[in-house]
Amino acid sequence: MYKFKGRDILSIKDFSKEEILYILRLASKFEKKVNPNLLKGKIVATLFYEPSTRTHQSFSSAAQRLGAGVIGFDNINVTSIKKGESFEDTLRIMANLSDVIVIRHPKPGSADLAAKTVSIPVINAGDGPNNHPSQTLLDLFTMQKIFKRLDNLKIAMVGDMKHYRTFHGQILGLGKFSNNKIYGICPKGLEMPDEFKNENYQDLVINMKNLDEILATLKPDVVSVGRIPREYIKGNSKKYSFRITIETVKKLPKHTIIMHPLPRIDELDTEVDEYPNAIYFQQAKNGLYIREVLLALVL
Ligand code: CP
Repeated sequence: MYKFKGRDILSIKDFSKEEILYILRLASKFEKKVNPNLLKGKIVATLFYEPSTRTHQSFSSAAQRLGAGVIGFDNINVTSIKKGESFEDTLRIMANLSDVIVIRHPKPGSADLAAKTVSIPVINAGDGPNNHPSQTLLDLFTMQKIFKRLDNLKIAMVGDMKHYRTFHGQILGLGKFSNNKIYGICPKGLEMPDEFKNENYQDLVINMKNLDEILATLKPDVVSVGRIPREYIKGNSKKYSFRITIETVKKLPKHTIIMHPLPRIDELDTEVDEYPNAIYFQQAKNGLYIREVLLALVL
């Protein structure tokens, strides 16, 4: 039906709508039933050149829940990269030892280069501000579970449209479906790059002090919040600060959900956690099932 075996997972752009829906259907099945022997005898290599909690640990957990072994690193200082070994040589060595590579790297295009270098499948676990396809799939899975659809949704993304890969993926992913309206609410200077825009998307450049009123007027189905990623911003990132509080949430329609890929820093008050539609911890857990499915499909 769909061809996933041996395939690289580099960008949500590479998936058709039907393939996305197939992955989400499987994720639902994997959530209901663990398959402890599905990947018995396989080795998953996790190469994390950049910090991660959720993505790294959930790929590792997903692999082990399916019976696979896991090797890899999350600190390049204890590898031969520290001695000067090249990216390509490191990839070739890790590919000799494993059946699939999961890679996070700060440089856009690094997962594509990894995929060109080795013959085993490569899964992009975030390449700088560019792509993070498993995050997009878990975001879509979360929305679909709640709204029972991925069409006709109004999404207010709040934060840094320029550098935040979660937002880039949400535009591209929701762009595969019909009649979605996406607003990118951001301070001046952090607008969406043209390469990620489509006809569903509109920048709303505002003074972030007016955020509560703008959100209340928009009445979105989803408020998708993201931190200001300091690691990708040159100069003072503090000037872009904003905060979603319980007061923000109280002004929203009852059905509006609050999403965040996490980690959060100071843009989402912990008081919001008590709000029944604050679903970011469930969202993070959904990543486990999506990552089980991706590993199972490519292997
Ligand atoms: N959402 C996400 O990618 O989190 P980590 O950086 O902790 O993996």
